[in-house]
Amino acid sequence: MSSSSPAERTLVLIKPDAVRRGLVGEVISRFERKGLRIDAMVSRTMAPALADEHYAEHVDKPFYPPLKDFMTGGPLVALVLSGDQVIDVVRGLVGSTDGRRAAAGTIRGDFSLSNRENLVHASDSTDSAKREIALWFPELD
Ligand code: CMP
Repeated sequence: MSSSSPAERTLVLIKPDAVRRGLVGEVISRFERKGLRIDAMVSRTMAPALADEHYAEHVDKPFYPPLKDFMTGGPLVALVLSGDQVIDVVRGLVGSTDGRRAAAGTIRGDFSLSNRENLVHASDSTDSAKREIALWFPELD
């Protein structure tokens, strides 16, 4: 490879609804088939304090208490993906927040009917990717 800069990274959470519904393999295979690389992956249940940090920009919003209950209510799968423009590419594969409105062909568009239980979280910018990767995978920094 002639590229001198390391590939961009993003943080993805395969949320408790996807784990409960047996969709982990389906979601991961979409990322793999796209050509993205899995740099780290772990199954764990999000502690309440980590939820408050991860969703710091949302803690005062009315939808946060039920979101926190949902996100801490069962195991999820956290992964770091890398590849060319991975942040935008993954957001395209995941689809818009509300599964009822997400385009068919996206993960949310194909499998979610909710704007809370929307299967996947993906970092929305280079700054949030850096912050979120440090929260979930401090050893990667
Ligand atoms: P996520 O990409 O993880 O970022 C914030 C999460 O909050 C979002 O996905 C949804 O799960 C949830 N969310 C965002 N907006 C709403 C809303 N209006 N009502 C309920 N949940 C929401």
